[in-house]
Amino acid sequence: MNVEQLLETAAAMVAPGKGILAIDESTGTITKKLASVDVESKESNRQAYRDMLLTTPDLGEHISGAILYDETIRQKGLSGVSFVDIMNEADIIPGIKVDTGAHPMAGFDGELITEGLDGLRARLKEYAELGARFAKWRAVITIDEENGMPAQANIDANCHALARYAALCQEAGIVPIVEPEILMTGTHDIDTAYDVSELTLKTLFTHLFEHDVLLEGTILKPSMVMAGDKCPEQNGTEEVAEATVNCFLNAVPASLAGVVFLSGGQSEIQATEHLNEMNKLGPLPWPLSFSYGRALQNSALKVWGSNPEANISAGQQELAHRARMNGMATMGDYNSNMESS
Ligand code: 13P
Repeated sequence: MNVEQLLETAAAMVAPGKGILAIDESTGTITKKLASVDVESKESNRQAYRDMLLTTPDLGEHISGAILYDETIRQKGLSGVSFVDIMNEADIIPGIKVDTGAHPMAGFDGELITEGLDGLRARLKEYAELGARFAKWRAVITIDEENGMPAQANIDANCHALARYAALCQEAGIVPIVEPEILMTGTHDIDTAYDVSELTLKTLFTHLFEHDVLLEGTILKPSMVMAGDKCPEQNGTEEVAEATVNCFLNAVPASLAGVVFLSGGQSEIQATEHLNEMNKLGPLPWPLSFSYGRALQNSALKVWGSNPEANISAGQQELAHRARMNGMATMGDYNSNMESS
């Protein structure tokens, strides 16, 4: 294991003012995304959309890395230069999603287990050769109190897989992003979200410890601690920030290289405000940053999708703006007046 390389990559991923662009949608997910703006999901359109995002001028100022999908890491941009080379030129670290999706867990109706460990060592070696320096594995934890979810067995199985994945990544010189996503959908309140987050994180770090994973070369991609979207009582920005930071102070070791939140269905502004509020509570043991998909792409997708040929630069301006706003939020320096600047 090349420890120095892992530490260097992990530190660069969470450098102050920077975060990660998640554009690793599987073909199924990107198809839905493009359909939402009436664009057909054929390879040339997926290439054009991701080209628009990755060639945004000065994107590297606030985006440290981007997570790609298998198709994209092998693809060239519209200029004929590979996406990996475009990113390296722009000082954006190439990353790759390596899990093969969340599938129904046998015996646990409604719960999901993420697959993709079979053959992972060989796939990681190939991805490293293609230029990937970090990877992502997403586990999905569902809260449904009436039906006793999540079951401890579901949390254990997902965290065990995350630890095996992380160990394989580090062996290949790739920084693992471990993502235990606790879904924001449901009627649960913030206290339940807190309890499930704490249990999941404590379980995850126990498994990472047992698998000898180097935390200084690992990045956590968690959900924020928030009430479910159908909970009648929604909490303010400060409450969400305090609950999340308190939960993490209880469950996340200080040696971890950094935390990059997923947005999970929050609006673009809400995701920025929550991140900013958390960073105002510092100093904290780890950098708190972002690895948003929807909360970085939504406006850019909408603008570009309304006229993909004419609106490349307009889409890029939307992405650059959100990247800058979230970059400010990683330092607790964001305020809503910046939205109009
Ligand atoms: P969202 O920010 O849209 O939740 O996506 C982040 C991600 O990569 C989920 O795996």
